[in-house]
Amino acid sequence: MRPRSGRAAFRAALACTLLSALLAMELSPQESLLLKSLGLSAKPSPKSPGPVPSVLWRIFQRRKMSPLSSKGPEDACRVEEFNVPGNIIRVFADQGRFVPHAPPLCLQKRLFFNLSALEAGERLTLARLELRFSHNSYHAAGRGAALRLRLLRGAAPALREGPAPARALLLQQSLAQLHKSLLFNLSAVAREWRQPRRNLGLTLELAAGDGGAGGRPGACDAFVDASLLVVSLARRACGGAVRRRRSAAAAPLTPSSLCKPRRLYVSFSDVGWENWIIAPQGYLANYCLGECPFPLTAELNSTNHAILQTMVHSLDPAGTPQPCCVPVRLSPISILYYDNHDNVVLRHYEDMVVDECGCR
Ligand SMILES: *[C@@H]1O[C@H](CO)[C@@H](O)[C@H](O)[C@H]1NC(C)=O
Ligand SMILES: *[C@@H]1O[C@H](CO)[C@@H](O)[C@H](O)[C@H]1NC(C)=O
Ligand SMILES: *[C@@H]1O[C@H](CO)[C@@H](O)[C@H](O)[C@H]1NC(C)=O
Repeated sequence: MRPRSGRAAFRAALACTLLSALLAMELSPQESLLLKSLGLSAKPSPKSPGPVPSVLWRIFQRRKMSPLSSKGPEDACRVEEFNVPGNIIRVFADQGRFVPHAPPLCLQKRLFFNLSALEAGERLTLARLELRFSHNSYHAAGRGAALRLRLLRGAAPALREGPAPARALLLQQSLAQLHKSLLFNLSAVAREWRQPRRNLGLTLELAAGDGGAGGRPGACDAFVDASLLVVSLARRACGGAVRRRRSAAAAPLTPSSLCKPRRLYVSFSDVGWENWIIAPQGYLANYCLGECPFPLTAELNSTNHAILQTMVHSLDPAGTPQPCCVPVRLSPISILYYDNHDNVVLRHYEDMVVDECGCR
């Protein structure tokens, strides 16, 4: 009967493989719920994720060292680095193409950022365009402007059929020196882009200085890319209570049956999320467990109501339950991830870590 049992085992293994394949395809209700609590309607599956912009890494690292809410409620949903309200920071890659140009231009490019990842309820509080160049200073012979730069609203004519629409000049600058990174505040323009059919992008024009014939191509050759950093505030998930970050792992030792925070590490790779969550790979979320016995002591952070309830419970255990051991202080974390459009997003989430428990 050996072969048969072998076949049975094989069939069982196959069924198991099929089942896990099915599970991988369809989101379980728990997973959907978890995604929803993170403000996501679908599980991102990055197609060709790019590198993480260094500005997001820097902010992420800084927050790990000193989480935002340690500064009080009014800072809980502010992005200190830019001094604006917000709990989501996205970096959009430019999707525009190069457009043929004629002198005096040495580069003409459409800039297009697809802002559809921003949801209707989010308030855009900052949009900052970054133009990157491969080197810092422009060593050109002669004086005067090394580089003239113009940003125009709308697409360059070469990309559009029919008569070219009037392109309004958004800004222009003459730079004596080239910088590795040029930053422009496009908050007002980006707000407009969020309205239906209003996002026609921009046109970037670079001209090498007033050097004359032939120009100096260096500045244009040095152009690397453009990106748009957008800060927004999703109202949900911005709490008000004062929270201090404390390590629950270092909570004082109490007899283990009493209500207190217990260690719980949530690993994003165990949930199968490692392909879209960049960092952290997991975090110490903790949970509350334990008894709330009579008499309640101050360490159990109980309310007057909970103290009365334990008294009644001690007199009538069957009729009235003990108070519950629940989180009384939580702290936030920030998560760095790829969204469904391969944008890199840094998002701040309130109430992700249990710091203290109490009997309520
Ligand atoms: C922007 O992205 C959304 C979602 O991926 C897509 O449906 C839409 O067509 C994109 N818009 C443009 C102009 O590329
Ligand atoms: C950016 O521009 C908006 C309006 O256009 C303005 O309210 C805001 O203060 C500017 N931000 C910075 C950092 O200059
Ligand atoms: C109750 O709060 C205090 C500080 O306010 C804290 O030290 C203690 O750990 C908390 N108790 C529990 C069970 O978390």
